[in-house]
Amino acid sequence: MAGRAFPARSQLWMCDQSTGQDSAASTSKLPRDMKPEVKELRSVLKKCSLYLIGPMGSGKSAIGKYLAFELGFRFLDTDELIESVENKSISDIFKESGEEGFRDLEAAILDQVQPFIGCCVATGGGVVLRKENWGKLQTGIVVYLEAPVDVLVERLKKDTTRPLLADADDLAERVSSILNARRYLYEQADVTVSIGAGDLVDKVGKEVVRTLTNFIKANPPRAANLHPGNLPQDGK
Ligand code: S3P
Repeated sequence: MAGRAFPARSQLWMCDQSTGQDSAASTSKLPRDMKPEVKELRSVLKKCSLYLIGPMGSGKSAIGKYLAFELGFRFLDTDELIESVENKSISDIFKESGEEGFRDLEAAILDQVQPFIGCCVATGGGVVLRKENWGKLQTGIVVYLEAPVDVLVERLKKDTTRPLLADADDLAERVSSILNARRYLYEQADVTVSIGAGDLVDKVGKEVVRTLTNFIKANPPRAANLHPGNLPQDGK
């Protein structure tokens, strides 16, 4: 992406039309009837962000929206941001700039998103491929949505928006080979939540909340140090 003038962060937020507001962290709202277990989780997570990773069809966007709503976080979707900034579909970006061009944009968007806290970020399935992206993902808590190939295929069989699947003669074979190549990367996540056939967003979302709560209880020092703003003040 040499020579590309990438938008300043303030412009990037203007692309997020979900609320029409311009600051991720300051506009988070507490749902009135926040469940006690979610409240506890929010109090730890509000100083960082959640990053959802996983293969195409694993439900990162749907679960991300659920979690953002429950936690009173801002929801962001890196693919949507790329499409807004470029004013092109992901398919057209792949056609015009190739996969590497798309990966450059993905890394640049992640760079812009990463400094914000209190966000729930749905990433593209290939975000794990570039080593440079991991430093940014790991400023937050990384959640892997794991699903078996047959569940992914069922969800993806009518999809026409994913360029990596567009020319597949055998969808199951393509999904399986992408997953096999990336599984060890997805498994670097802080927590993994498994999804089964027919699982609804609500069920998976609740499972993510439960798993994250356990993770934070088991790893308090890391969670407490996720963001510099969370560090104790001098003398305290
Ligand atoms: C990709 C996944 C897509 C999108 C692009 C490439 C991948 O996002 O970023 O088509 O490499 O797995 P979703 O995981 O949201 O489908």
